Amino acid sequence: HDLTSANTLRLAGRAAAFAEFSTVSDLLSLLDQAGAARLPVMMLGGGSNVLLGSSVPALVLRSAMTAVTVLGGAAEHVRIQVEAGKNWHEWVLESPAYGHGLENLALIPGTVGAAPIQNIGAYGVEVGNLVDEVRGFQLSTGQLRTISAQECRFGYRDSVFKRELANDFIVLSVVFRLQRRFEPDLSYGPLATLDAASVTPQQLIERVCDIRRERLPDPAITPNAGSYFKNPVIDRVQVERLQQQYPGIPVYPAARADQLKLAAAWLIDQAGWKGRWLGTVGMHDRQALVLVTNGAATLADVRALQNAVADDVWQRFGVRLEPEPLQFGEV
Ligand code: EPU
Repeated sequence: HDLTSANTLRLAGRAAAFAEFSTVSDLLSLLDQAGAARLPVMMLGGGSNVLLGSSVPALVLRSAMTAVTVLGGAAEHVRIQVEAGKNWHEWVLESPAYGHGLENLALIPGTVGAAPIQNIGAYGVEVGNLVDEVRGFQLSTGQLRTISAQECRFGYRDSVFKRELANDFIVLSVVFRLQRRFEPDLSYGPLATLDAASVTPQQLIERVCDIRRERLPDPAITPNAGSYFKNPVIDRVQVERLQQQYPGIPVYPAARADQLKLAAAWLIDQAGWKGRWLGTVGMHDRQALVLVTNGAATLADVRALQNAVADDVWQRFGVRLEPEPLQFGEV
């Protein structure tokens, strides 16, 4: 099965088998078939955060389940279960009818099921702060399981689903805890021009969409996987050394008090890679953190540019850049 159109970098690759499931019992029978064929199982969402290898020797599954169910709530919040196959942006657009907190995460590509895995975040908000629990199927135990927000161990672009539960958990739904009151987070620079007292959820979503459209390439037109590198989290002492040499270097708080987050886009930009191409792949000319392709790139081309950019940033700043998307399959 050809996965070229199932990943937003549009890398060419084939899976041993592919199926979509619309019910949990469909999923269970697909897992039985994979077991009988001795095929491992891999989950794909919107394909917007993966580096597709040319061969995926697995049964690749995608959830086609999209139901939204109100579970209940209290005076301040409401709990809503959303099935994994729902398009993320569609859910964000619908969410203000139930509760608030997701508005800043508008227009992020991908599915609801993928959101907790890499703890998607933008404009001052991380989804982990709005997740109450994640429900799914654990392959190693063969059982349905509910993972609490605490067990998710959310970090910057990180969670238990990328660690202990990697390749072992099929997310079936995410339960969100949304606030009944709309208290917009306008802490991110370009949102600060909005008036917190009068802005509506729809206006906030609109502004976030405008900012994204201005800076980020549309994957439907220009193949990309969003930010290619994570923003490096490094020790404060090292940041202070860099600040002496580069007084304008952008710095953000990190989860730990003895560390800070640097802007990878700034490092890449300073290293001269913004808008620069290496064959079929390049770093976007409006956001240096986004790797784009001409539609005919291979994973090897992508890795070559990754290495060239990371090497230059290492030479110049002594900071290591790590890719954000995970490899899916074999080169
Ligand atoms: N900058 C440059 N050159 C550029 C782009 C940015 O010097 O070409 C500087 C800017 O001046 C700014 C800093 O870099 O001071 C940060 O840029 P920006 O606000 O655009 O955010 P980012 O750190 O590059 C992160 C997320 C994005 C998210 C934005 C907005 C990561 C890896 N990326 O990017 O998420 O939309 O913040 O909150 O954390 C994604 O993960 O795929 C993604 C797009």
